[in-house]
Amino acid sequence: MKRFNNNYKALVIGATGSIGAAFVRDLESDDQCEKVVQLSRSEPNEFGLTIDLKDESSMTFAAMTLQLEGPFDLILGSTGILHGENLMPEKRLADIDMNVLQETFAINTLGPALLLKYFLPLLTTNGLMGFISAKVGSIGDNRLGGWYSYRASKAALNMLIKTAAIELKRQKPEALLVSIHPGTVISALSKPFAGGAGSKARDASIASQEILKTLDGLNAEQSGGFFAFDGEELPW
Ligand SMILES: NC(=O)c1ccc[n+]([C@@H]2O[C@H](COP(=O)([O-])OP(=O)(O)OC[C@H]3O[C@@H](n4cnc5c(N)ncnc54)[C@H](OP(=O)(O)O)[C@@H]3O)[C@@H](O)[C@H]2O)c1
Repeated sequence: MKRFNNNYKALVIGATGSIGAAFVRDLESDDQCEKVVQLSRSEPNEFGLTIDLKDESSMTFAAMTLQLEGPFDLILGSTGILHGENLMPEKRLADIDMNVLQETFAINTLGPALLLKYFLPLLTTNGLMGFISAKVGSIGDNRLGGWYSYRASKAALNMLIKTAAIELKRQKPEALLVSIHPGTVISALSKPFAGGAGSKARDASIASQEILKTLDGLNAEQSGGFFAFDGEELPW
């Protein structure tokens, strides 16, 4: 990425996901990137670390250990859920279920809040942390309704990012923290919803390149913003 000097260091959280793995591939093939540390729930990294967004101690331990490898110029968070066992996005209010709400918020909102707490301090003074959110989390852009838990969990994630960006600005005025909408991407998460005829779903490698290009072009005044993969600024 052009915004950083040679030998920049990156950390990808959620490296086993479609988009996370594409970030890792792209960054590893960038000659300027000295090191890409991967972190995920299901595959221990080179330091034997894993994180579970529902287990705070795993995040504390990983951040403490990775302090020795950092600071990082680029930190990307690409974790999330939309569906799972006994968990499908709600079509109507009558579908709302406490377990679905709790699980969705635990992974899409509460875990990322702790990632911000433990990993934002590992950012360099002019570094960039981007968290993958979703356009359906935009309150201003909500035209279709439905998907209560997922929408609300991503809207709350965007608020956490905006709030943390204000605090970051006081400590590191040149650093950035942003929410990113990746567009529709072929992945396990989107599979039940994005596979039909005429689907706009694209390969994660395309989404990754678009997102990295957009992130590369942002300036410090844009910290706290919510951006689509193509650079469009999205409404909260
Ligand atoms: N695909 C799309 O069309 C689309 C559209 C809008 C927004 N997004 C957002 O993009 C992000 C990445 O999604 P994706 O499409 O790449 O989906 P994906 O391939 O299903 O990846 C999801 C990632 O989240 C991780 N994860 C889930 N629960 C976790 C937990 N408890 N602790 C730690 N990690 C956990 C998974 O880890 P494991 O491998 O261990 O399960 C995996 O790395 C998500 O935030 C999603 O909401 C995607």
